[in-house]
Amino acid sequence: MHGDSSTSKRTEISRGVPRFRTFERIVFFTGAGLSAESGIPTYRGQGGIWHQYSYEDFACQRAFDRDPEKVWDFHDARRAKVAACEPNAGHRVIAEVQQAKPGTVVITQNIDGLHQRAGAHSVIELHGSLWRVRCDREGINVANDQVPLVPRRCACGAYWRPDIVWFEDMLDPANIQHATDALRSCDLLVSVGTSGVVYPAAELPLIAMEAGAATIEINPEETSVSRLYQHTIRAAASEALAALWAE
Ligand code: APR
Repeated sequence: MHGDSSTSKRTEISRGVPRFRTFERIVFFTGAGLSAESGIPTYRGQGGIWHQYSYEDFACQRAFDRDPEKVWDFHDARRAKVAACEPNAGHRVIAEVQQAKPGTVVITQNIDGLHQRAGAHSVIELHGSLWRVRCDREGINVANDQVPLVPRRCACGAYWRPDIVWFEDMLDPANIQHATDALRSCDLLVSVGTSGVVYPAAELPLIAMEAGAATIEINPEETSVSRLYQHTIRAAASEALAALWAE
């Protein structure tokens, strides 16, 4: 029998691309493309979220201040969609690498929580999380996985605000510092499934490059930052990650 039908499609990756086992301090820098194989739409690719919704109406502070109910309708729909999705093999490989190599750090732009559901820990969520809400009047931030969120208001009467870094928001300085420290000291940077066009997140990989780390980009498509990487793998995240961890 030619191969077991259960084996997933194996991506051949040239021997010139360094394998994860030869490194000790790996940083995985992940974007929406890593969750695409879990059925969660990306933002800019085909079927991307921003092709269907304008972020000015649903994902920025002005929209929330203008019509919090409308923003919460959009946000509850996203929570329902993501809650029905499962981590994929790409998330699981990253969690396995972190298990085997405790110096591994995950820096994600994703808000879906799939890294954590796959077993990754101390994930730096640069853009916040669908699964946290905060009250800016009381300065509290709580985990919440209700779908839909009920009630939508904090006990003080203010609307709960999704704990997401929306467009025009500042990123949490503590996250930036943790990410910078990890990128300065890593020996391998693996960018997975990001178009690399949203700042300041998009400039973080430069820190690892300037620090002399080996660098790999995993993306089926060329990106505006592909030329900055020593190795680019034109494959789906789950296949490429599995291949780089297997040998
Ligand atoms: N495996 C790997 N990469 C993939 C896959 C896959 N199976 N499918 C798509 N991709 C790639 C696309 O080619 C694209 O380059 O994932 C990338 C997704 O790009 P975006 O949709 O722009 O997502 P991302 O880079 O994470 O966006 C950054 O923008 O809207 C904001 O805050 C939001 O965190 C988000 C940020």
